[in-house]
Amino acid sequence: MNQKDLEQFLEIVQLIVQEEQEIPVTKPLNIEELHSLLDLKLEDEPVSDEIFFASFKELVKHTPKTASKSFFNQLIGGRRSRAVLGDLVSSVLNNSMYTYKVAGPMVAVEKEIIKKTADLLGYPASYSGTIASGGSISNFMAMVLGRDAKANTIEDGINHPMILYTSEACHYSVAKNASLMGIGRKQVRFIPTNEVGEMDMALLEAQIIADYAQNKLPFFVNVTSGTTVLGAFDDIEKASVICKKHQLWLHVDGAYCGAAIFSHEYKHLLKGVELSDSFSISSHKMLGTPLTCSVFVTPHKEQLEQSFSSEASYLFQSEEDEFNPGKTSFQCGRRNDALKLWTLWKSIGTSGLEKLVNHQFKLSEIARKYIRKNIDYQLFSFDNSISICFNYKNIDPKVLTAALHKHAKLMVSYGSFKDQTFVRLVTINSDNSEEEIVEFFKKLEQFVRENTLILQ
Ligand SMILES: Cc1ncc(COP(=O)(O)O)c(C=O)c1O
Repeated sequence: MNQKDLEQFLEIVQLIVQEEQEIPVTKPLNIEELHSLLDLKLEDEPVSDEIFFASFKELVKHTPKTASKSFFNQLIGGRRSRAVLGDLVSSVLNNSMYTYKVAGPMVAVEKEIIKKTADLLGYPASYSGTIASGGSISNFMAMVLGRDAKANTIEDGINHPMILYTSEACHYSVAKNASLMGIGRKQVRFIPTNEVGEMDMALLEAQIIADYAQNKLPFFVNVTSGTTVLGAFDDIEKASVICKKHQLWLHVDGAYCGAAIFSHEYKHLLKGVELSDSFSISSHKMLGTPLTCSVFVTPHKEQLEQSFSSEASYLFQSEEDEFNPGKTSFQCGRRNDALKLWTLWKSIGTSGLEKLVNHQFKLSEIARKYIRKNIDYQLFSFDNSISICFNYKNIDPKVLTAALHKHAKLMVSYGSFKDQTFVRLVTINSDNSEEEIVEFFKKLEQFVRENTLILQ
């Protein structure tokens, strides 16, 4: 990187950090305004450095600030500085994580993360894994492993309707992946959830039996540790008994709250995870690394190799397959996403990761306590969840969340469960204090007081 770009980089980062404090919610631009306010057009001729940096800074200034203390909109938040450091260095080094020749010790960094995660899960020595570019791809990989373990699909393709099971509250990637991998969306059975948003295990087993009876081929169960809306945890132990009995692959989608495995206090939420056939966690969610970094682990090393390795003499030119992670990954060229998790984990230790997780659960308790004490609120979510779902004074949550954003007060979104729609506050930003969570409610209430007309 040249000196000038490095200096500009520092200036831009300082600008971002300053803006996060002074203007924590960026006023959204109308789509029509985009091109009139910002210089985004790409042209044949180069622009001067002066124009380039001015346009670039303007673009940055208008971009939503997801690490600010007023961002509660999605399942990301805050900024772990050490993780950002690792991420930036990944970009400058620009290794590709397919071979030891090209990635060198960075391969061992990945392997260390996978090993530590497998140990925490209680997986046997036959574990293996990869660093994937997100929870959706991790779910995809799990589904492929489950498919290939059940039938000879690697060579023959799918010759028989293969059925997979997930709860109605699962992440949308499960259905999308089913279509992408040739299983078909119609083969996804969405099992109803109980009143707290967990998959109903009796209905799961009944559905598997019914599918076998109809000569279908059940192959895979996805359980979620932290459902996207309510943050509920499916019962892994019960799912495992059913999967073993009926010979199905059990995947634990821990993209959102799988990080509870780092906490002595909360790991009980994933009780039985050691019995699963695969597990994934997105460190860009609860652990607060920059996007994206997902750790995918399985106790079935051989299956991962069978499903994901392919010979390529132009790439794999040494015999050390153990150190050629391109043999167990989805992509060919792959960014070094492991490094940002390693720089964070190395510097704060497993105990530091535990503190991040515990703090987020603590913040969620503060939020629930506030709601429960105040009769103007109605609570829809449950304990042991960092998604706090509520409505305030029966105001339409879609209108309220849109108005809060439009007026640059707070970024928070809404969600639905069964026939209810509500505001979903996510306490995933470990930089937030308990006082700042109370402040969220105060800001919301003040906004409602001052804007009764637009909220009607
Ligand atoms: C339960 C669950 N699984 C998977 C995903 C997708 O993960 P990612 O955002 O890491 O791609 C999400 C995202 O919110 C999720 O909540």
